[in-house]
Amino acid sequence: MSQAAKHPHHVAIIMDGNGRWAQMRGRPRLLGHHAGARRVKEIVRACPDLGVRYLTIFAFSTENWKRTQTEVAGLMRLFKRYIRREAKALFEENVRVRFIGDRVRLEPALVDLMDGLELMTAGNTGTNLTIALNYGGRDEVTRAARRLAHDVAMGKLDPRAICDETFPRYLDTYVLPDPDLVIRTSGEARISNFLLWQSAYAEYEFIDTLWPDFTPAVFAQVIGRFGQRERRFGAVMA
Ligand code: FPP
Repeated sequence: MSQAAKHPHHVAIIMDGNGRWAQMRGRPRLLGHHAGARRVKEIVRACPDLGVRYLTIFAFSTENWKRTQTEVAGLMRLFKRYIRREAKALFEENVRVRFIGDRVRLEPALVDLMDGLELMTAGNTGTNLTIALNYGGRDEVTRAARRLAHDVAMGKLDPRAICDETFPRYLDTYVLPDPDLVIRTSGEARISNFLLWQSAYAEYEFIDTLWPDFTPAVFAQVIGRFGQRERRFGAVMA
């Protein structure tokens, strides 16, 4: 059951450090988020050469609503702008985009853009980009449990059939493989409610680089280190 991994199939990234990057330059935090959005583009483009088929990025958490109204509104504007500006390029680069998280609290104009981009890229067969927006691992598991309980109440699901194979079908990520590698930038060693269920056997890389400085070259180094790791999935080495 031991597996020498060459490159990770699915990489998930907690893009942290935008605010500090801007503050270090005496600029408003939102400028850091804009720089972070430019990095997103480059990192998505780097995936095919690195053998990364699935990239999942944490753009806005269920806890991020606690930030100032200015920052939250600025981020929402940035997400809308990113989708409007990047949709064509993402489509042409064969990227399939999906969003995870609870859409209920998001403004309808943003949800329309998200739905439109998912639909537009639904037939693409290249990199699978998943953007976590208003996402929280506990919130996702709670919403899944609610849907599952509903199916049981409706007689559609036998409680005896609930196991670690059936439960994930209720998660936002039901069509995605589990991440092999979770990267967090900016030096913080926390997972902050990201992909709690899905990351059970993931490798973690906490790196000091702030997200706007996370170049494709740094990404390639992290992927290279992953290739050196021995993954055992709970088994003992032979
Ligand atoms: C965390 O850094 C970052 C965020 C909460 C936002 C992430 C958003 C982007 C990278 C922008 C664009 C994304 C897309 C998908 C277009 P922080 O602000 O917490 O940094 P700090 O810890 O230094 O304050």
